[in-house]
Amino acid sequence: MNLLRIDSSVRVENSKTRALTDFFLQELGKYTPFSLVRRDVGLNPPPIPNDEFVKANYTSPTERTERMNEILKTSDELINELLNANKIVMASPMYNFSIPAPLKAYIDNIVRVGRTFTLGEDGTMNGLLGEKKILIITSRGAMSYKEDGVLAAFDFQEGYLKALCRFLGITAIQFVNTEAQDFGKEELKDTNFEQAKKELRELAKVW
Ligand SMILES: Cc1cc2nc3c(=O)[nH]c(=O)nc-3n(C[C@H](O)[C@H](O)[C@H](O)COP(=O)(O)O)c2cc1C
Repeated sequence: MNLLRIDSSVRVENSKTRALTDFFLQELGKYTPFSLVRRDVGLNPPPIPNDEFVKANYTSPTERTERMNEILKTSDELINELLNANKIVMASPMYNFSIPAPLKAYIDNIVRVGRTFTLGEDGTMNGLLGEKKILIITSRGAMSYKEDGVLAAFDFQEGYLKALCRFLGITAIQFVNTEAQDFGKEELKDTNFEQAKKELRELAKVW
C-alpha cells in the first residue's frame, strides 16, 4: 500500500496537525504495512500558478513547448506522486477560516484536466481519483466550528476540502479534527487533542 502524507502547517515545532499525523501513522503501522511518501507543502510550498503555468496547462500535451513542459514539471511531479498513492493522509491547520496558502498552491498544482479530472465536450467534469481513500486531519485555534457552534458559518476549511475531494472523485473521505488549540481553556485544549488521538487510534484499526 502506497501512502502519501501531505503536511501543510508552516510551524516547525509544536504543530498539532503534524503531531496527530505522526500519531496516526504510528498507529496505522501496527495493523497495515505501507510505504510512505512525504510531501511537506508547509515547509516547501509549491509555486503559485502564474500566467505561464495557465497557458502551458491549457495547451494540449502534444503541442507544448519545452518551456511549457518545464513550467509544468513540479505540477507533474506532484500529480504523479498523488496518482501513485492508494491512501492519502492530509494535515491541514485552519488559517483565517480556511486552509493554509501553501496547501491552496498545492491544490492549484494538482487539479488539472486530463490528469486528475476529465472535461467532456458538454462541460461535464469527472474526477479521476476514485479509487483512493483520504483522511484529513484538521486543527483550529478557536472552538465552536462544529454543527451548531457559533463559528460554524466560518468553517471554509472542511467543507472546501470535502468538496474538492469529491470533485476529484474521492468518496472515501474521513475527517478527524481538534479545536481550541490556541484560544481556549487549557484543559479543553488537552481534552480535545486527546479526543482526536482516540478517534485516530480507532480509525487506524480499520482504515
Ligand atoms: C496564519 C494563521 C491563521 C490562523 N487562523 C485561524 C482561524 O481562522 N481560526 C482558528 O480557529 N484558528 C486559526 N489559527 C490557529 C491554528 O488553526 C491553530 O494554531 C492550529 O493548531 C494550527 O495547526 P498546527 O498546530 O499544525 O500549525 C491560525 C493560525 C495561524 C498561524
